[in-house]
Amino acid sequence: MKNLLITGGAGFIGTNFIHHVFKIRPNWRVINLDKLTYAGNPCNFENLSPEESERYRFIRGDIRDTVILDRIFNTYNPDAVVHFAAESHVDRSIQGPIAFIENNIQGTFNLLDVSRRIWKHNGNPPDFRFLHISTDEVYGSLGSEGYFTEKSPYDPSSPYSASKAASDHLAKAYFRTYGLPTLITNCSNNYGPYQYPEKLIPLMILNIIDEKPLPIYGDGKNVRDWLYVIDHCDALVRVLEKGDPGETYNIGGGAERQNIEIVELICDLLDSRLRHTGKKSSRRLIRFVTDRPGHDRRYAIDATKIKNELGWSSKYHFEQALETTMDWYLSHMDWVNSILSGDYRKWIKENYAQRAGIKMNDPAEEKKKGNNP
Ligand code: NAD
Ligand code: DAU
Repeated sequence: MKNLLITGGAGFIGTNFIHHVFKIRPNWRVINLDKLTYAGNPCNFENLSPEESERYRFIRGDIRDTVILDRIFNTYNPDAVVHFAAESHVDRSIQGPIAFIENNIQGTFNLLDVSRRIWKHNGNPPDFRFLHISTDEVYGSLGSEGYFTEKSPYDPSSPYSASKAASDHLAKAYFRTYGLPTLITNCSNNYGPYQYPEKLIPLMILNIIDEKPLPIYGDGKNVRDWLYVIDHCDALVRVLEKGDPGETYNIGGGAERQNIEIVELICDLLDSRLRHTGKKSSRRLIRFVTDRPGHDRRYAIDATKIKNELGWSSKYHFEQALETTMDWYLSHMDWVNSILSGDYRKWIKENYAQRAGIKMNDPAEEKKKGNNP
């Protein structure tokens, strides 16, 4: 029986990870510590089976709160910490960086330090693991060629990626200085069920359903390497079980696409699903808008190390997994509607109102007024 302390488990990747672990590791228990920011949703665990519920505890709390952390460690004595909790959206970090410094840097520091204290108190058990989930954005931007390896220099562009870089350095330092068995994973852009619709893929899916404009930053030719979230979760289990403490593993989907290609593909796939026959293609909703400041041009992961050392490689095919993702959103409109709160609307208004070239008006309304949306 393994006891995992998961932080940020009510967010997108954490939720998928917990469901995945319940499926493939019947002996693992999960304590999910999440403070439930706008991105965390405890309802993601409403439909656990009785057997899964037995293995699940949810604690609402903040990783910056050392009293809660001490209490959790003393009560549950976890064998591993899987640390997802973070502010995760680049655009929000541009508008309000302080939350990223506080949660991603200070929060990770607290978690590492409490883990170190308790680990030491327990006699430094060698099997303890602290898995820190990070991002390929710490490496900065690539030109049209090359890949990020674990040895690529850190060169973050946004307050978000800089805060993740700082937290990676802390995790590494706690291994070198104190011997705490930390591992770091740096992965590319995830997509799949439960992703908050501020990120590119779910935002576009929902805007197409609502016939709202599809805002593309800059020229739309920025490239991301897309990783299906279940592939990512599988890699994390592999790293937990087989990874070497002190090591970093890059995780990528091997599916590089330009943003404009992704958005056009989602338009076409959704048009065929929603049977918008007789209507014009959803591509008509695409709007090129003011670029994101410091917008990284291209990310691409070299996943050779995790393949050779841990035997992991991505299994899901991008277009198929994208269709699965779209079908999930279409069949979970209750989940979607519960997300589309006042907070969400406020964010959409604030982020996009300032981008020239786009009106976040409803195209149907515009048409009524005689404007060509
Ligand atoms: P998310 O924004 O969907 O979820 C983050 C979760 O963390 C939320 O449930 C939130 O309530 C919780 N949280 C935030 N601050 C907290 C705090 N101080 N204490 C406790 N809980 C807190 O994020 P995600 O997309 O699931 O990303 C998870 C992790 O993976 C992050 O560390 C992110 O940097 C990293 N990552 C994400 C991607 C991606 O494509 N989504 C890619 C690479 C790395
Ligand atoms: O690479 C890993 C990172 O991927 C993670 O560390 C982050 O947590 C995660 O949010 C993601 O960061 P990105 O900035 O790449 O993801 P986002 O979905 O915000 O944007 C993807 C691309 O699409 C990026 O080039 C910006 C562009 N974009 C995004 C939005 C929201 C648009 O063109 N229009 C939009 O409205």
